[in-house]
Amino acid sequence: MNSMNKVLIGLVLLGFATSTVFASDNTVKERSNISSNIAWDIEQILFVRNGDPVRGKKINTEMMCASCHGEEGIAAAKNWPSMAGQKANYTYKMLIDYRDGKRAGTATSTLMSRLAEKMTEQDMADISVYYARFSLPPATRPKLASKEQVEKILPLLTKGDGKRMIPPCLLCHGADAEGNDRDIPSLAGQRAEYFRKTMQEYKDGSRHNDIYARMRFISEVLTDDEINALAQYFAEMKN
Ligand code: HEC
Ligand code: HEC
Repeated sequence: MNSMNKVLIGLVLLGFATSTVFASDNTVKERSNISSNIAWDIEQILFVRNGDPVRGKKINTEMMCASCHGEEGIAAAKNWPSMAGQKANYTYKMLIDYRDGKRAGTATSTLMSRLAEKMTEQDMADISVYYARFSLPPATRPKLASKEQVEKILPLLTKGDGKRMIPPCLLCHGADAEGNDRDIPSLAGQRAEYFRKTMQEYKDGSRHNDIYARMRFISEVLTDDEINALAQYFAEMKN
């Protein structure tokens, strides 16, 4: 299948999911102050670690995940997240949060909730381990910010901004933005449009599944220009 066909299938699925949601009133799950039901105890960590990537590959194809996120985790469209090289615990947490209505309230999260509701926790662990096996996505060159704007945000990466209480991004996300095994996502090579959109959603609170509101606190004090420049920087990052 060529990538244009994949995008078309994706759009049809997206339209289907959103229209069914708006057609009935009871489907958007109640919001709660608890950001996630995940607790990373040993049992939970081992469960994800023991996921079966061979089964994960099958699920990726059979459940049509691949039509949007790619056979090898490179998203077909620029506003959909790539999954290649993503930390398994993070992916697993997202799927649980979608299923439980914790990452909810936007058209695209509703689509993902519909799909996650059809998955067993074993399916989630398997696909998480499958995506984690790939290298991070290759650099792209989006046009969200100028070179000057990108230069201005460089201190945020390694120094943060004490005045605004922003810790350095790479302190949590890893020196090469490769993520952290516990549950912090990789950012290197992420699709810029998706990155920008999800940061805006943390900022306005429509994405609220981050434990301790770590990303909501940070994005709240970032300007839109800074968010665009950060999206540009991470998309261009060579892996
Ligand atoms: C129609 C396209 C489409 C399909 C099919 C699809 N996804 Fe998604 N997926 C998206 C979009 C768009 C988002 C961003 C959702 C949001 O904003 O909350 C997303 C988000 C995700 C995320 C969170 C990524 C992150 O970086 O936070 C995971 C994990 C995920 N999808 C896994 C899956 C799995 C597993 C399947 C198959 C069962 C699947 N997706 C099928 C479009 C799709
Ligand atoms: C204190 C640790 C911490 C710092 C500092 C931090 N992050 Fe995060 N970030 C997280 C965690 C934890 C998550 C996952 C939250 C969740 O479960 O939704 C996350 C998620 C994200 C996501 C969503 C990724 C996806 O695939 O959906 C983006 C984008 C992001 N961070 C960007 C940044 C940027 C840019 C900075 C610096 C300005 C930064 N983060 C600083 C901990 C941190």
